[in-house]
Amino acid sequence: MTASTTDEQLLDRAWWKESVIYQIYPRSFNDTDGDGVGDIPGIIEKLDYLDDLGVDIIWLNPVYESPNADNGYDIADYQSIMDEFGTIDDWEELLDGLHDRDIKLIMDLVVNHTSDEHEWFVDARDPDSDYHDYYIWKQGRTDVGGFTGHLGPEDEAPPNEWESFFGGPAWAYDEDVGKWYLHLFDEKQPDLNWENPDVRDEIFEMMEWWLEKGIDGFRMDVINLLSKPDSVTKHDPPRNDTEVWETFDGPRMQEFLDEMHDRVLADRDVFALGEMMGRMDMETAIDYVGRDGPLSTLFHFDHVLLDHGGEIWETNEWTLNDLRDSFNRWQYGLAEDGWNSIYLSNHDQPRLVSRFGNDDEYREASAKLLATLIFTLRGTPYIFQGAEIGMTNYPFDSLEEFRDVETINPVRNALESGEIEHFDDIKHGLRHNSRDNARTPMQWDDSENAGFTDGEPWIGVNPNHDEINVEAARADKDSIWHYYRDLMDLRKDSDVSDVLVYGDYEVLINDHEEVWSYVRTLGGERLLVTLNFAEFESHTWIPEYEVEFNPHEMEAELLVCNYGADERATDVDAAAFDLRPWEARIYRLR
Ligand code: NOJ
Repeated sequence: MTASTTDEQLLDRAWWKESVIYQIYPRSFNDTDGDGVGDIPGIIEKLDYLDDLGVDIIWLNPVYESPNADNGYDIADYQSIMDEFGTIDDWEELLDGLHDRDIKLIMDLVVNHTSDEHEWFVDARDPDSDYHDYYIWKQGRTDVGGFTGHLGPEDEAPPNEWESFFGGPAWAYDEDVGKWYLHLFDEKQPDLNWENPDVRDEIFEMMEWWLEKGIDGFRMDVINLLSKPDSVTKHDPPRNDTEVWETFDGPRMQEFLDEMHDRVLADRDVFALGEMMGRMDMETAIDYVGRDGPLSTLFHFDHVLLDHGGEIWETNEWTLNDLRDSFNRWQYGLAEDGWNSIYLSNHDQPRLVSRFGNDDEYREASAKLLATLIFTLRGTPYIFQGAEIGMTNYPFDSLEEFRDVETINPVRNALESGEIEHFDDIKHGLRHNSRDNARTPMQWDDSENAGFTDGEPWIGVNPNHDEINVEAARADKDSIWHYYRDLMDLRKDSDVSDVLVYGDYEVLINDHEEVWSYVRTLGGERLLVTLNFAEFESHTWIPEYEVEFNPHEMEAELLVCNYGADERATDVDAAAFDLRPWEARIYRLR
């Protein structure tokens, strides 16, 4: 890979490249009215907290009116706020409060599907209504093949064999219409028909409405699913020879996003982040997020699929090589054009320290190491609420403790069909994989419900909040929280900020089984990051660098170490050194 010059790299400066994003899952952040559900006034109460932490952008998960089949990702009205969360006035106050503190706000845009309670869908159930064609209606198959369910008329099977991402067929039969509608997610989340220009008009107008209110951009939910394959759009009943993953990056995807860009985003300096399902090739990614693409950056799933099996309760072993390879692909793939999003957790993923670190003996060290990784790869870093205090997975013990449709639906189906006999047989896997791990309430202090609510929390509070909580973390200057603060300063407000944001990434010793090391370079400025992903000491070295400099002749100034700046970290021989368990260091090479 060729190193570009400082000027080339800095040419594409953007505020959202230099920002740190903090994600708030409002249901679990802070409850002010005692109903056990977090709310917008609860976020307002914590504005100073966010400011103290030093974040630049808040990504707010959906707060729109919703029957909550999928916790707000099933929207019944795009332009009003869910009662449980507050009012539009609360939301305006939140936006002002953030902007007063120089923090930007991006909203979730969920336009692959609506709720079945959205008035468009209610009207769509009348085949003569203008709204009928807002959704995807198809005849069932009369050749039922091996299908044995009775979700529609006895002599019909769903239009094709696609499985919904939440388990079961991706089609639901509607008796009034006498046809099936497509729902790639839950039955209560019918997919919108983006082929219909009226749908696009409505969505673009709605986006304008929020932008006019002053928001700073959108996080776009499963955005590369909007364009459905020809097998569905051009046939009724659909051709039954396609897999559901053919909905990823469908034939008109680029066109739809270009249209969105040209009509809504182009003349504004806003941030557009697309969540992209599937394993994407770099050419497609660059079409989306390259200099000429419609979006600023994307979320891919490569690294978060490593430890998942086919079913929600199945797990896979991952190795450091797997993790590094998946990041390398994107670091190099978008090095010249495009921009990465660096995340290890969000509301759909288990807690990062339980997954990629060690949430037991080395919780502090490994949470700090993972933070170091997030802040030093090339791309915009994301913090999901609670990561800054090292929150862990929850010790789920029964199916009743789960709230998430993605966990509950497939487990119920499998228990009913006999595919699994007892919950206990899959408990371990669910504890590892379930999205509910991320959704347990934010741990503010050691009081009964961790300071989250005075009422009955909608989902269990992790019992470890007596130790792991914001109050304790802020009081301890060596805590994970303060480490995040330090990384924030280094990235945003130091003389190595530019190299941390814009510098080239180059991996060293790419096959080391425990240690991941890399150099970030911008002009003459170089940083070395070295991370030990192991519970034991690991030996490593800095190889003679192939291009312009020899690290052995350089001085390494320690900038950050999660064990503190002791002699082992400051006095290092680049040709051979050892890292302690889960040790992370950043050096400046001169
Ligand atoms: C991705 C969202 O992040 C997830 O929470 C949701 O269930 C699906 N999209 C469907 O909207």
